[in-house]
Amino acid sequence: HIVGVNAREILDSRGNPTVEAEVWLDSGLMARAAVPSGASTGKHEAVELRDGDGRYGGKGVRRAVVNVKEKIAPEIIGIDPGEQALIDNIMIELDGTPNKSNLGANAILAVSMAVARLAAMERELPLWRYIGGLGPFLLPTPMMNVINGGAHADNNLDVQEFMIVPHGAESFGEALRMGTEVYHSLKKLLKNKGKNTSVGDEGGFAPDLAGAEEALEVLVEAIAGCGYKPGEDISLALDVAASELYDDGLYRFKGEGKDYNPEQLVEYYLKLCRNYPFVVSIEDGMAEDDFEGWKMLTQALGGEIQLVGDDIFVTNPKRLAVGIEEGMANAVLVKLNQIGTLTETLEVIDMAVRNSYSAIISHRSGETDDPFISDLSVSVGVGQIKTGAPARVDRVAKYNQLLRIAEDLGDLALFAGLKTFRGRKA
Ligand code: PGA
Ligand code: ZN
Repeated sequence: HIVGVNAREILDSRGNPTVEAEVWLDSGLMARAAVPSGASTGKHEAVELRDGDGRYGGKGVRRAVVNVKEKIAPEIIGIDPGEQALIDNIMIELDGTPNKSNLGANAILAVSMAVARLAAMERELPLWRYIGGLGPFLLPTPMMNVINGGAHADNNLDVQEFMIVPHGAESFGEALRMGTEVYHSLKKLLKNKGKNTSVGDEGGFAPDLAGAEEALEVLVEAIAGCGYKPGEDISLALDVAASELYDDGLYRFKGEGKDYNPEQLVEYYLKLCRNYPFVVSIEDGMAEDDFEGWKMLTQALGGEIQLVGDDIFVTNPKRLAVGIEEGMANAVLVKLNQIGTLTETLEVIDMAVRNSYSAIISHRSGETDDPFISDLSVSVGVGQIKTGAPARVDRVAKYNQLLRIAEDLGDLALFAGLKTFRGRKA
């Protein structure tokens, strides 16, 4: 049983404070976990408790740390760490708010993740095997964000993420290699075009380009330049993060100098998908509360490509249930810190799978070296992970953990490819 709980303030990949928790067993075993943090956060996400004082521009997390040590610790000491749901529910009830604003989702999640890791250690199982049970274990297809825009960079791109999806591979390791080769080829290409090759928050390049079309063109060129076939070996995906562009009923693409109403935006996506048939997934094509827009988009494109809800669902079973009921999106982005416990995260994944929505396990733009999501992605077997460019330790830590897991599984490691992508006509 748990005999000790500790927490501290550490830094994330953007240099902002975040919470790290440690949980101990009577045997002396200790597990540690750190929570990530978003920049383009959805307004319905669980609350990240920040101090709001003079330290770190108000972003300190000392209050969340104190909540772990003084409020959460006494309630969970004495419990077996294998009782994940019990421990998560104790924290949810102790918090007492629908959005975890009392203790802070950062405080609660750090403990929730550390408890899972401790239980795995106690059972001498890797985390992915402990969470998932029996398998089969599917290594996810990486969605690698190699061009950053929007809230993650200072360039003029309105769309937040341009991702390459290496799916035509025999294994996860081969897919990672293919995507990484394209990343390097993209850098050379941008350099030759006289573009900036400094990177954004998720490790992707952040050049000024004419707009989404030019970004897609450059990616196609980088893919072909490596000898891969767009659509066959490597496809493309976008995260528009449209909540960030939505203003008073209009989607304002400031960099491109264009405003769209929801109908026009759906038209724009239809055209984009006709011109670039190897775009297999669009995330947050519509804003978090534009339900009518989401329904329109899903009717227009849901049978052809994967439409991923991030800000609209915020990893919340209640919001996903509305989406399923109303026919909005056909996939859900899964971010542990949007909801704040492992138990609720698993609940959302389960709901998605049972309703033929795909689920994509995701990092945040502010990350640490904790590779928890890599283990989670294999254990739940949803077949897709979104964890940035193959550069910067905060991103690479996740890919490297997946390489270790693949090696551990050996011949049993199945690679997802495009199998789990929704909307594709078989
Ligand atoms: P965030 O971005 O972590 O800044 O919210 C990631 C995403 O929008 O998917
Ligand atoms: Zn997103």
